[in-house]
Amino acid sequence: MANIIDGKALSAAIKDEVRSEVASAEAKYGRKPCLCVIIVGENPASQVYVRNKVKAAAYTGMESMLIELPASTSQEELLGRLRELNEDPCVDGILVQLPLPDHIDEEKVIDTIAPEKDVDGFHAANVAGLWLGKDCVVPCTPAGIMRLIDSTGISLSGKNAVVVGRSNIVGKPVAKLLLDRNATVTIAHSRTADLAAVTRLADVLVVAVGRAGLITGDMVKPGAVVIDVGMNRNAEGKLCGDVDFESCEKTASWITPVPGGVGPMTIAMLMKNTLHCFRNREK
Ligand code: GUN
Repeated sequence: MANIIDGKALSAAIKDEVRSEVASAEAKYGRKPCLCVIIVGENPASQVYVRNKVKAAAYTGMESMLIELPASTSQEELLGRLRELNEDPCVDGILVQLPLPDHIDEEKVIDTIAPEKDVDGFHAANVAGLWLGKDCVVPCTPAGIMRLIDSTGISLSGKNAVVVGRSNIVGKPVAKLLLDRNATVTIAHSRTADLAAVTRLADVLVVAVGRAGLITGDMVKPGAVVIDVGMNRNAEGKLCGDVDFESCEKTASWITPVPGGVGPMTIAMLMKNTLHCFRNREK
């Protein structure tokens, strides 16, 4: 039976660490870091995520601002708001919750955020920084996944890491972070010919596709570390991951639950990124 990786506990410890760093930063610089979160429209899942982000900022002692815009907001209006926030000296971090309504070009929005305030690490300048190994903002979910893997005490050097999913938010950046730790990295996706044959080679398996129960126990190498990034609702409306927990926990050595695994870590790393942006701006 696998050990459970407790993302909720690890996230709480990181938020406590940020809370004490925020207090020292305030004493040193005479102001608190400020995170601005923007949501456009009324996607219920996004509303929960942004509320949790603002709540976490308050817990760590940061200032926060929640801007709720109607779904009818034009792209130009949103870009105008972002340009104002870029110029606002009191704002250290800007996050636009995705997905956006169809009439708004996400790429344009992301690239309008000043890279030094891009706490998601999605701006092209930060993506380039990540791939070139420069100091940059690392996307929250991938950074949180690395902390979860590190908490097992297992070294990644020389191991086979398989990432299932190739999104810009999770799959691609986490593959680069695993590569930086000297893992041999494979990215699998919806067109991978024999997914089970690939996942069975993984010492570390990261799954981020958004398909409930895609990974079953027979697809997991005995002793593997399994990280489930999925957040799906099953037929009964219950939150579940991309990994079939019941069958996989019999084969894996370590596994993240859903909820209580990757989700809380994303928010903890967002707090760290906001503090990072604040410090860089104060430098
Ligand atoms: N939607 C799903 N995940 C994320 C995230 O990490 N950041 C933002 N801004 N939107 C998201």
